[in-house]
Amino acid sequence: MRDLKDDLPGLSDQILAWYDQHARSLPWRVSPADRLSGVSPDPYRVWLSEVMLQQTTVAAVKDYFHRFTKRWPSVQELAAAKDGDVMGEWAGLGYYARARNLLKCARVVTENHGGVFPVTHDGLLKLPGIGPYTAAAISSIAYDLPETVLDGNVERVMARLYDIHAPLPASKPELKSHAAALTPVLRPGDYAQAVMDLGATICTPKSPTCGLCPWRSPCEARAIGTAPLLPKKTPKKPKPTRRGVVYLARATNGDWLLERRPDKGLLGGMLGWPGSVWSDRPEPNPPFEAAWQDLGAEVRHTFTHFHLILQVVVAELPTQHSPAAGHHRIAPSDFRPSDLPTVMRKAFDMWQGQ
Ligand code: ADE
Repeated sequence: MRDLKDDLPGLSDQILAWYDQHARSLPWRVSPADRLSGVSPDPYRVWLSEVMLQQTTVAAVKDYFHRFTKRWPSVQELAAAKDGDVMGEWAGLGYYARARNLLKCARVVTENHGGVFPVTHDGLLKLPGIGPYTAAAISSIAYDLPETVLDGNVERVMARLYDIHAPLPASKPELKSHAAALTPVLRPGDYAQAVMDLGATICTPKSPTCGLCPWRSPCEARAIGTAPLLPKKTPKKPKPTRRGVVYLARATNGDWLLERRPDKGLLGGMLGWPGSVWSDRPEPNPPFEAAWQDLGAEVRHTFTHFHLILQVVVAELPTQHSPAAGHHRIAPSDFRPSDLPTVMRKAFDMWQGQ
């Protein structure tokens, strides 16, 4: 019998027909109906959403996307923004190198490309913060070029459609070659978004609703019953735990002592509380001599490669204290807790709740 999956155009037609009915309505998306009637996506909005969506869920990104596009509606306006304003707007989304590169990229596109994002995968790859995934997503979604977009959703869908049991990440090239073979020449942008939506709404990690899937007939894992077990993943190493101390110093007039972290490294470019290094056994490193009081509860936060436990200590910021290099005295009217990255915000919330 001829394998259903030999009919690659048939497969992409099936998922496109499903997408025409079931596409999610997303703030950066042009719906399939609008696209058909000639509306093109704005490459700035596609780029911004794709950078935000790296390692972050659609639900978490929506509000940030609305705030960014309201404040900076075009790449030129973003390029002209102050670094601190962009880092503050990004606070809470994590992976702060993305925000630093976002700003660099906006400036390169504005200054060297007349405010127009390059069209080709190779042209896009030269821009700061744009790797193979983002380049493919922009070429495909914004410019409707047949590039192969492989994110976690697409990997899961391919592993199941072809019943691939080799574990991730080693299986990526195999999954990508299947995804590439399926990418149609017509409507590749809608096709890329259709597979993402299928992975997000039907072909979900734990309990896929295979009965509603446009690929239920050709899906090999569904036929055998292995769909919920795929994709397999090579187990990750357990994360080590590091410790540190943060120093919350507030003056009687409400001024706070904060530091702008250096651009390189974790939380680079973000505002935070002065603190010790984070290690197995951190040495205290107060920004000034005082009777520092322990708040008595610890902040816990997990980064990609380690867990962090922070001791929070507080003292009054002396009126005459002159901040060290990189430290800033911030007046209450200029202090926005929402500008802090989540781990630093947790320490502030603990101070507020004590
Ligand atoms: N995840 C990453 N990019 C996406 C997109 N363009 N649409 C939906 N989910 C996504």
